[in-house]
Amino acid sequence: RARATGVGFTFSFSRLSSIFTSFLVVAILNHFGASGVFLRLKYHFMAPAYWINDPNGLIFYKGYYHLFYQHFPYGSTWGSMHWGHARSKDLVSWEHLPVALAPSEEYDLDECGGCFSGSAVEHDGVLYLIYTGTIIRGDKVIQSQCLAMSDDGIVFKKYERNPVIPAPPAEGSNDFRDPKVWRHNGKWYMVVGSCKDGKGKALLYSSEDLRNWSYINVLAESDGSLGSMWECPDLFSLGDKHVLMFSPMGMGEKKTIYLIGDMNYDIGRFTWDRMGEVDCGFEYYAPQSFVDPQGRRIIIGWSNAWDWMPWFQSFGPTSENNWCGAMSIPRQISLGSNGYLLFSSIEELKSLRTNHFRLTDLNVHPCQSVIPVHVRGTSIEILVEIQWASEMLDSFGFQLRCSPDGEQKTTLEYTIARQELIFDRTHSDGFSSGVCKMKINQMDQSLKLHIFVDTCCVEVFVNDGEQVMSNNIYPSIEADGIEFFCNGSDIRIVSLDAWNLRSIW
Ligand code: FRU
Repeated sequence: RARATGVGFTFSFSRLSSIFTSFLVVAILNHFGASGVFLRLKYHFMAPAYWINDPNGLIFYKGYYHLFYQHFPYGSTWGSMHWGHARSKDLVSWEHLPVALAPSEEYDLDECGGCFSGSAVEHDGVLYLIYTGTIIRGDKVIQSQCLAMSDDGIVFKKYERNPVIPAPPAEGSNDFRDPKVWRHNGKWYMVVGSCKDGKGKALLYSSEDLRNWSYINVLAESDGSLGSMWECPDLFSLGDKHVLMFSPMGMGEKKTIYLIGDMNYDIGRFTWDRMGEVDCGFEYYAPQSFVDPQGRRIIIGWSNAWDWMPWFQSFGPTSENNWCGAMSIPRQISLGSNGYLLFSSIEELKSLRTNHFRLTDLNVHPCQSVIPVHVRGTSIEILVEIQWASEMLDSFGFQLRCSPDGEQKTTLEYTIARQELIFDRTHSDGFSSGVCKMKINQMDQSLKLHIFVDTCCVEVFVNDGEQVMSNNIYPSIEADGIEFFCNGSDIRIVSLDAWNLRSIW
């Protein structure tokens, strides 16, 4: 990936390697009969075409939910960043709007930079976007925080005195991006992602008027074990606690972290005592939160990640068909009784449900090997509760997106001994690879799964949202079967509900 700090070499290397991988990908897709055209998602948000990454500027403004996003409107790989824009009445169906921000000024006009991630707030009826202008000069990245305004939520004008924060404080470094702004006790606050000496940081600012900002403090920082750079930090209150969520670079498989603790506004410092992962899958990054009119704290994440490309800088099968990247389904978050976060799909998504299949109280024997689930399709929701009694049970789970010839299948399997939920895409499509493992806090002999399958992604919520796992797969459209299996001993399906989900497009 060409990081913000990357320079010419990374980009030209990526171009060469993407030409090379284009041939490989096309050859493989021909072999498996899949085409990215058919991979357009049914109920996940995508740009009309081309590249998408982080969600930006989530807000409810003048009767609509607004979703902005990092967008390259001239190609299906990362490029000079624009802010794409869409709005929705229900967070389910989306109306595409014109690009909201395009690189145009000396502080954001750069082939390798642009209008990087940020957030939105409303003040006196005006919608403000706060974003990072990024330019590269020589081998130096210059990132500054900028403002744009709109009276109608559609046409934005950049503030003539941008940037409002031209340079990082001494505690930060050139990596200085992704401002998230909120209001507290009559003042505006902003947290910005940064790093110093290989340790990620969140920097805190405040302002009376959104235009003049004062640096307050390092809100929180890595001790070396929490990543080398914190992208997209987001601080918010939840119940009587505060949550700091960010996407750390350099934490290996951990892509999005949350910390739970307390905020001291007097000194501008957040202290924490609990840590968790927002999503344990291969593909979930840079989530942003907002509060909706009902008071729900909702997050949307980019359902990809920078290191997901299996071969060099390949952006995957869809990018051969002029699109790449999507948003996760919106998730409502709350504090669980154990003090950790709970994630649930928003209620509104139930409006997508069509054909319903239900079974209850069914004993499954391993020798039966599979129980076909009588719902087929590439766009499906499954809600299942499983119980077991025998010590002999080894594992159970689903084969998802199975092709009629058995060549393609994606395994979601829970292994009792290891207490691990495994997502294995070895046989998914001939392109995807990797086995994603998530350790479950197993309290008793039961498990609840809430699974959202779409054309090329699968989101799995475990035990009422204690953990979530999102992964992408690219099976052919014919791979629309689902099977349940268990190994070692009997198992009881307490209940299983499955629905086809209609398309939002
Ligand atoms: C996170 C990120 C941000 C940056 C944006 C650039 O995915 O790297 O830090 O603002 O993407 O597109």
